[in-house]
Amino acid sequence: MLPPPPPPPPPLMLLPLLLAASSFAAANAKATPPSATAAAGARAGSPAPVPTPWPEQFHAVIFTNLTESGGRLQLIDIYYDWPKGRNLNLIHNQLSGDPTYNVEWANGTSYLFDAASCWTFHFAVGLLPPDWMKARGAAYLGRGRLDGFDCHVWSNFLFARYYEDAATGRPVGWNFNGMLRHVLSFEAGAVLSDSGKWQAPAYCFNGSNADAPAPSPVDQLIRRGSGSS
Ligand SMILES: *[C@@H]1O[C@H](CO)[C@@H](O)[C@H](O)[C@H]1NC(C)=O
Ligand SMILES: *[C@@H]1O[C@H](CO)[C@@H](O)[C@H](O)[C@H]1NC(C)=O
Ligand SMILES: *[C@@H]1O[C@H](CO)[C@@H](O)[C@H](O)[C@H]1NC(C)=O
Repeated sequence: MLPPPPPPPPPLMLLPLLLAASSFAAANAKATPPSATAAAGARAGSPAPVPTPWPEQFHAVIFTNLTESGGRLQLIDIYYDWPKGRNLNLIHNQLSGDPTYNVEWANGTSYLFDAASCWTFHFAVGLLPPDWMKARGAAYLGRGRLDGFDCHVWSNFLFARYYEDAATGRPVGWNFNGMLRHVLSFEAGAVLSDSGKWQAPAYCFNGSNADAPAPSPVDQLIRRGSGSS
């Protein structure tokens, strides 16, 4: 029996990697464009600011308004835990009962499940390390405002825009694939215990091809697995 197609991509760490770079051009219109003079100044002499690495563990609450693209308001709890090699995105859509879970492991295996269905993905790059923004390169675009915060703004292969509060170094929001994510809270060091929330349910493991080799370049980044065929 075929489950319904996967829900919209989870928010942060790995699924965006599969999205075509061209789609990143759909940058948001709501945020103030970064200041060109600041970027020019940075190019001219003074070294451009580099993104602050993420803490090794954090809990963030992310708000997104997806109504313009036919979605809903969405609240996502992110529990990033680099020492334990895992990340959980707990996705709540407005007035919908069950949240969707996305558990990502350092080895690149990612489980996306709700109370009834599960999809397994594999990403060759694995979990993004705390300093990946710095390490993988990011173009500094200058200062810009988002949600009333004065921010440093970068762009890289993942984010069309990444906004960091100039005063505190905390992320304020980012845009990828046309979706503007707003960071409502960011608790460095917050850890989700080894609760049941990390464990993918049994129905993620009852398919036959969960760990099949990836058949195409795109599928090296993402592939539907257990329970979907
Ligand atoms: C969500 O976006 C729609 C369309 O832009 C807007 O009308 C609505 O006020 C927004 N709601 C919130 C809570 O941001
Ligand atoms: C990756 O790690 C997770 C969690 O330990 C495990 O469930 C999964 O089978 C592993 N994937 C591979 C390809 O070894
Ligand atoms: C896996 O388990 C789910 C939920 O119990 C069920 O709907 C699905 O048919 C099962 N798939 C296989 C391949 O057994």
